[in-house]
Amino acid sequence: MSEERKHNKLSTASGRIYVENDNTKSVGPRGPILLEDYILHEKMAHFNRERIPERVVHAKGSGAFGTFTVTNDISKYTKAKLFNKVGKKTKVFARFSTVGGEKGSADTERDPRGFAVKFYTEDGNWDLVGNNTPIFFIKDPKKFSDFIHTQKRDPYTNMKSPTMMWDFWSLMPESLHQVLILMSDRGTPKGFRHMNGYGSHTFSLINDKNEKVWVKFHFKTAQGVQNFTDEEAAEMKSKDMDFSQRDLLEAIENGNFPKWNLKIQVMSLEEAKKVDFNPFDLTKVWPHADFPLIDVGEMELNKNPDNYFQDVEQAAFAPAHIVDGVSYSPDKMLQGRILSYPDAHRYRLGANYEQIPVNRCPFAVNNYERDGFMRVDGNQGSKPNYFPNSFDDIEIDNSYKEPSDDLGDHIADWYDRNSKVGGNDHYSQPRALFRDVMSKEEQDNTIKNTIGAMSGISGPKKDEIINRQLCHWFRMDEEFGARVAEGLGVNVNAVMAAMNGAH
Ligand code: HEM
Repeated sequence: MSEERKHNKLSTASGRIYVENDNTKSVGPRGPILLEDYILHEKMAHFNRERIPERVVHAKGSGAFGTFTVTNDISKYTKAKLFNKVGKKTKVFARFSTVGGEKGSADTERDPRGFAVKFYTEDGNWDLVGNNTPIFFIKDPKKFSDFIHTQKRDPYTNMKSPTMMWDFWSLMPESLHQVLILMSDRGTPKGFRHMNGYGSHTFSLINDKNEKVWVKFHFKTAQGVQNFTDEEAAEMKSKDMDFSQRDLLEAIENGNFPKWNLKIQVMSLEEAKKVDFNPFDLTKVWPHADFPLIDVGEMELNKNPDNYFQDVEQAAFAPAHIVDGVSYSPDKMLQGRILSYPDAHRYRLGANYEQIPVNRCPFAVNNYERDGFMRVDGNQGSKPNYFPNSFDDIEIDNSYKEPSDDLGDHIADWYDRNSKVGGNDHYSQPRALFRDVMSKEEQDNTIKNTIGAMSGISGPKKDEIINRQLCHWFRMDEEFGARVAEGLGVNVNAVMAAMNGAH
């Protein structure tokens, strides 16, 4: 292979060096332009495709890379590897945002602020996708789209509508706690550096003895909380729509790296049964007097992305993304969000959004997902694309299994679909279909088709695979098994012996 050719000459996207970037080729100096001037098509066509859908909420935002450093040992609560040693450092990417405004809206609007952090851990990416408030307006995900509609534009006037907002809030008294915070000056923080962040939901931590506690995450700004008054925020809106973006970008450019201290509140499973509020209700905080803050570590943001679109616009955070030692809780809102975000990403960025550099797990990813638009990571090469298979060495690691949740009368867990209660009889119904429903001709054809299809099995595991499948045919119907075996040239006695060995 020849060396990659590097140059700084103007070229098309496919690398053809091109001579002219100002004038389109034309028939004479004043004549019509020629269709063959391909660079004109390419420029216009790519330009027409520059926009991707903006986030349906949190569309206006700013992001930066940084480092999370553990300062206190919390391993008695969690086995999460990112917390397993004081001094341990993990790369992060954080994105802050307003909620209701479009991508071009002003940074100083009265609104909660998004506070999303992606930790690139060796056990996968962990996304803590919270806000700058510890609570939220609603407590059931079914109300989320209704609520957001009230924060966006009126379908008739196409303007923001305080009527819609207050109509909804007044009909939903559970919103009062959050509305109160929103109406305070915390509704207009002075940029992103001067606000706290919260995981908001209750999550769980699991230690190496598989003991679970409930947890809340808090990021406390080391810059101190600072807010704009209503007047200051309105004034800033007319002076600089991008105040928070500029403030964060310039602070990092100047080496004035913003920091947050991560702390947790912990509640035991027993305490959760006794407290006089629902600890999984997102409209409630946990009193600090009863559940004091415990230090965990420090997050520092120290690198601006080189390209905003690549890293910030294409960032995809999901509460679904947890790691070993950190898990969900029964909070209904959290449960709703587990489903919603990856769905939004597939729509906004495509099925292979996890391959975009800012979203990619820098450690191993092994699975049987393949293909789709814009698959550019090698597509797992020639490895098998199905499971189970007899070829690869990808393992299921049971040591990562979470303890089951005790929900009173009901136990949430993963149940084996092939257990007795799940249904472990794979043979009676096919047997009845073959023997009792099929005509003689259909039976013969089915056997012939099966022989034909199974004849395609090849490679070093050929006999193993054929014998395994023959065992199933025999269990269904001995005549079927024997005839397929015969058609494949297999010694039936050997197969029977193998089958008996498997019992
Ligand atoms: C059931 C309730 C909720 C649903 C269905 C929901 C749904 C969504 C969706 C679809 C996005 C856009 C994702 C994208 O296109 O990348 C989003 C963004 C976001 N949401 Fe929610 N959300 C909910 C509640 C919350 C709550 C309670 C919080 C905070 C505590 C929150 C924080 C965020 C943040 C920070 C972002 C922006 C993430 C980023 O920077 O890319 N959301 N949400």
